[in-house]
Amino acid sequence: MPKTREKAARPFDTLFEAYDAWYDREPGRSLFEVEADALKEMMPNMSGPVIEIGVGSGRFAQFLKIPYGLDPAVQPLKIAKKRGIHCMGADAVSMPFRDTGVGCCLLMVTLCFVTEPLKVLKEVYRVLKPGGVVILGMVLRESPWGADYLSKAEKGHPFYTLATFQSHKKVLALLSKAGFQIPEVVSTLFQPPGKSAYGAENFRKGYFPEAGFTIYRAAKRAQH
Ligand SMILES: C[S@@+](CC[C@H](N)C(=O)[O-])C[C@H]1O[C@@H](n2cnc3c(N)ncnc32)[C@H](O)[C@@H]1O
Repeated sequence: MPKTREKAARPFDTLFEAYDAWYDREPGRSLFEVEADALKEMMPNMSGPVIEIGVGSGRFAQFLKIPYGLDPAVQPLKIAKKRGIHCMGADAVSMPFRDTGVGCCLLMVTLCFVTEPLKVLKEVYRVLKPGGVVILGMVLRESPWGADYLSKAEKGHPFYTLATFQSHKKVLALLSKAGFQIPEVVSTLFQPPGKSAYGAENFRKGYFPEAGFTIYRAAKRAQH
């Protein structure tokens, strides 16, 4: 695996237990619920196979009943396997799937960690069936949560220092350049960072810069 890509996955390989355990206590527990509930509503009856790219320890995949996961960090995959996910150690930039075989790909806070997001989205496009769908769960750089993570990155946070948080405009441009149709967008987590726990929220349709979590659902053109 090339060193640049390996680098983005390395902290997830070494700190995976702490990363996973963060969701067992507040505020991680209630944040998970806000984000996972919105994702679930955006993923009804997805035609398979459904795969999470950058699946990590598989918390979201398990909750969303996603059967397959892929990640270059192989240590967290051990937890994902225990959660019942069929896992592959591989890089999103070159996936071990044939063309047009996958029904749906989820990237949950993963696009900001890959070194070449456009290349990854083009690769997702390649593996999706015509009419197949990509779902992106994103923390946008202009949101209060993006600003909080950027300030943590400046202080040397082990994960956020490796992230490139994209703006809404950038995500739309990347999806379009990769060939996807104009996405549906929903926003949630309107509560600010820094709370000890978070209340349940209903997502809002559309883009809101004040939202901490934004979901994009974009389809591959049926004919190309
Ligand atoms: C913030 S974690 C999210 C994990 C999981 N989706 C979740 O929400 O719990 C980002 C994940 O992206 C993975 N990742 C980094 N570079 C990648 C790449 N080039 N291809 C696929 N996954 C990658 C990391 O190893 C890590 O597991």
